[in-house]
Amino acid sequence: MRRTHRWILALASPIVLVVAGAVTLDIWARSHLAARLPIDDLTLADEGPPGDVEAGRRLYQTVANCQECHGPEGAGSLTIDDGFVGRLVAPDLTGGGHTPASFDLAVRHGLDPDGRPLVLMPSDGYAALSDKDLRDLLAYVQSLPPSGRKLPRSALGIGGRQLVLWGQLHVPAYLIDHDQVGAPSDASAGEYLARVSGCYGCHGDDLQGRSLGPTLPPAPPIGGDALDSWSEADFQRALREGIRPDGRALDPTMPWPALSRLDDDEVADLWHAIRNVR
Ligand code: HEC
Ligand code: HEC
Repeated sequence: MRRTHRWILALASPIVLVVAGAVTLDIWARSHLAARLPIDDLTLADEGPPGDVEAGRRLYQTVANCQECHGPEGAGSLTIDDGFVGRLVAPDLTGGGHTPASFDLAVRHGLDPDGRPLVLMPSDGYAALSDKDLRDLLAYVQSLPPSGRKLPRSALGIGGRQLVLWGQLHVPAYLIDHDQVGAPSDASAGEYLARVSGCYGCHGDDLQGRSLGPTLPPAPPIGGDALDSWSEADFQRALREGIRPDGRALDPTMPWPALSRLDDDEVADLWHAIRNVR
């Protein structure tokens, strides 16, 4: 009898330690995610010039590629839903709930209206959007007919919270310099495009490539001399048709279908910008 007790104790203590450790980590992760950023004086004024719907549509569908997650009609999508990571929902943007200030908080700061961080919404790239482009995007979103769709809100599970804690799940609000959103005045047209279309977000801060996690192919180096063996025509083909110079098709993680709608000048601007990254 005594012996069995000792065995149970010997087995149970590591389990107790593991459970206690997991609970502590989860409390830590929850407080990390609940932390609010001060949002006074951060956002676009609610009064301002009205945006241009057509220009906004183009940004939505091409350069900023919002449709990838929020859907072609802005009705949103369920990105992940499992018992471990939790539920990640790109919300329905139709139905008119947004003011310039709340839209700015979400899009350029990655924050909800209370200043809490959004998860997965790639605002670190969009932080560079100009005020004009942001107002155009909002005008387009506001022009969309209400979808009437009822999507649940995002809710991270214990696994999702841990991924956030360990930097494996994208929380842009932590990466953004919130006093510096908007287009830098010295950015070239190509740099601006590269920033807001997410080239840096996936290919890394210096465009020298980075891993996108266990389930996706890595984003290869494309900056500086990384594409020395490519011509500008090769680059154009990669963006237009998703084909590399060696004939291999690019994985659709690389958002070439959206980028294929860029015009020739924009592709040329991008090419020069990525070649100039040092
Ligand atoms: C990679 C997927 C992805 C892309 C691309 C994306 N979003 Fe989001 N967006 C999300 C997710 C996921 C959320 C919800 C995050 C959360 O609840 O923590 C979100 C939240 C938002 C919100 C807050 C909405 C609300 O009702 O709470 C707005 C506004 C928004 N996105 C606009 C945009 C716009 C405009 C673009 C393009 C410039 C864009 N998003 C591109 C995934 C994305
Ligand atoms: C959502 C992440 C993502 C974004 C945003 C993105 N890329 Fe990519 N890109 C990838 C991935 C992943 C690959 C590798 C695909 C493969 O090997 O099949 C790739 C491949 C490429 C390649 C081919 C390189 C090679 O050596 O094969 C080029 C060129 C490229 N991207 C340019 C760009 C440019 C320019 C932008 C911005 C306008 C951009 N990408 C935005 C993920 C992304």
